[in-house]
Amino acid sequence: MPKLNLKPKSKPKPKLKLFGISASPRIAATDWIVRTGLGYAMDNWSAETRYFSVHGKKLNFCIHCDHCIKEGECIHNDAMNEVYSGFEWADAILIGTPVYQGTLSGQAKVIMDRMRAFVARKPHALRGKLGAVVADGGDRIGGQELAIRSIHDFYLINEMIPVGGGAFGANLGATFWSKDKGADGVRADEEGLKSLYRTIDRLVEVYLLIKLKRH
Ligand SMILES: Cc1cc2nc3c(=O)[nH]c(=O)nc-3n(C[C@H](O)[C@H](O)[C@H](O)COP(=O)(O)O)c2cc1C
Repeated sequence: MPKLNLKPKSKPKPKLKLFGISASPRIAATDWIVRTGLGYAMDNWSAETRYFSVHGKKLNFCIHCDHCIKEGECIHNDAMNEVYSGFEWADAILIGTPVYQGTLSGQAKVIMDRMRAFVARKPHALRGKLGAVVADGGDRIGGQELAIRSIHDFYLINEMIPVGGGAFGANLGATFWSKDKGADGVRADEEGLKSLYRTIDRLVEVYLLIKLKRH
C-alpha cells in the first residue's frame, strides 16, 4: 500500500517575472550579460523571463508631441511596443547598458524617454515594480556608476523600486569591464559576474519580501 504523505504542504514561493533589456546596438557584451542574468534567475530562482535587445530594432526618439498625454498612446508605432508589453508583464526589470561617453547608451535613454507614453496611458502603471541595472564599459572605471544611477533615477521617477546588489561586491548594481572585447571580455570578468549574480539575488530577495508581506 502506498504511504500517505501527511507532511503539511508548504506554499509554493511566488515566481518573479523578470524582463531583461539589452540597450546595446550589438549582440556582444551587454547581450551576453543580460541573457546570463536571466538564465541565472531561471536556474536558481525559477523566475519567468522575457528578453528584449535593441539590436536591429527601429526605435524612434520621443519628439515631445504630447500625443501620448492627449490620446493615451505614442505617436510612433515601432519596437517600443515590445518594451511596453514587457514592462506591463514584469514584476522586475533588468536594464543592461554599455557605457557611452561616461554614461548610459543613447538607446537606453530613448527607451526611458519613450516610457512616458506608457505612464501617460496609465498613471502609476510602474508603481512598485522593481528595477536593477547592469552597466559594462571598455574601461574598468569608465562611467558604469553614472550609467547605473541614471537608470535608477528613471526607476525612481516612475515610482519603481531601484534595487542594487548590496555592499561588498555589487553596491549599486552589476558592473562589468569588457576591455572592449565584447562577450569574451565580460565572460572573463569574474568580479562582474559576481556582481550580476548578487544583483539578481537581491532582486529576488526584495521581490519575496514585498510579495510575502502583502499576502
Ligand atoms: C560611442 C561609444 C562610446 C563609448 N564610451 C565609453 C566610455 O565612456 N567608457 C567606457 O568604459 N567604455 C566606452 N565605450 C566602450 C563600450 O562601453 C564597451 O565596449 C562595451 O562593453 C560595449 O558593449 P557591447 O559589446 O554590448 O556593445 C564606448 C563605446 C562606444 C561605441
